[in-house]
Amino acid sequence: MEFQNLIVEKRNRVAVVTVNRPDKLNALDVRTRQELLAAFRELEEDDAVRVVVIRGAGDKAFIAGADIREFAGKRPLEEREIMRKSRAFDAMEDFPKPVIAMINGYALGGGCELAMACDIRIAAAGAKFGQPEIKLGLIPGGGGTQRLPRLVGEGKAMELILTGDMIDAEEACRLGLVNCVVPPQELEARTMELANRIAEMSPVALRLAKQAVKAAARLELRPGLELESELFALCFASEDTEEGIQAFIAKRKPDFRGR
Ligand code: COA
Repeated sequence: MEFQNLIVEKRNRVAVVTVNRPDKLNALDVRTRQELLAAFRELEEDDAVRVVVIRGAGDKAFIAGADIREFAGKRPLEEREIMRKSRAFDAMEDFPKPVIAMINGYALGGGCELAMACDIRIAAAGAKFGQPEIKLGLIPGGGGTQRLPRLVGEGKAMELILTGDMIDAEEACRLGLVNCVVPPQELEARTMELANRIAEMSPVALRLAKQAVKAAARLELRPGLELESELFALCFASEDTEEGIQAFIAKRKPDFRGR
């Protein structure tokens, strides 16, 4: 697929996906959501890519939400079909490699939801978060009502969703919505340093670890622990696990090949 609204760059083992509609604060129209789906499908197949970083173009916004203009005059079944065909956030959550959101500026509505579908969120000081759909007579439709309470608890999620209020990066960090806040000029370097560090780990172990942690939100404790045990044992089917153990014993750096 030829991308109009995305830029995908590969920097060693890390792919950087940039949503590139800065004049619209990177609002996600249907085309962009479909491009995201296609990009993640391609990146999944590319064994050279071990971690994905996603960001918005320009210095004003990560993503300011779904493209509101596209909602005008939409009929329910039409909107339902569009949503069914462009479930980019779920694809990112199910993506078998770590995805890191690098957030500066506005992360609103679908932008906040996209960030929440990522595995780790790094915010620049000055970033703003919120689910403002209520102000449009809407509710979040990209996972906000489900992922936000899981990250910050029901009370705070309810407050943010019912008021549409924005919070700053420091508050988002206190709530557990983002992992950390860094000075804007350090955002890219700090995010890439983290991405590169994770990209050195075994891709097999990263995939199983992500699968296990994601299951924690869906499963009761006991089945969750059972799944973890099974996935832990499955690690021993990979050459990388043997490599990791041998490298530790030989006091050398492991060379994980993803097998
Ligand atoms: N959908 C479509 N276009 C959007 C958009 C969105 N979610 N968010 C911003 N834009 C567009 C604006 O319409 C404007 O386009 P224009 O220059 O063609 O008029 C451009 O991006 C710049 O935005 P602007 O509103 O002028 O910037 P601002 O600094 O005054 O305000 C925001 C920034 C984020 C507060 C404001 O753009 C906003 O409230 N956006 C909508 C956020 C939202 O409700 N998201 C949830 C959607 S479900």
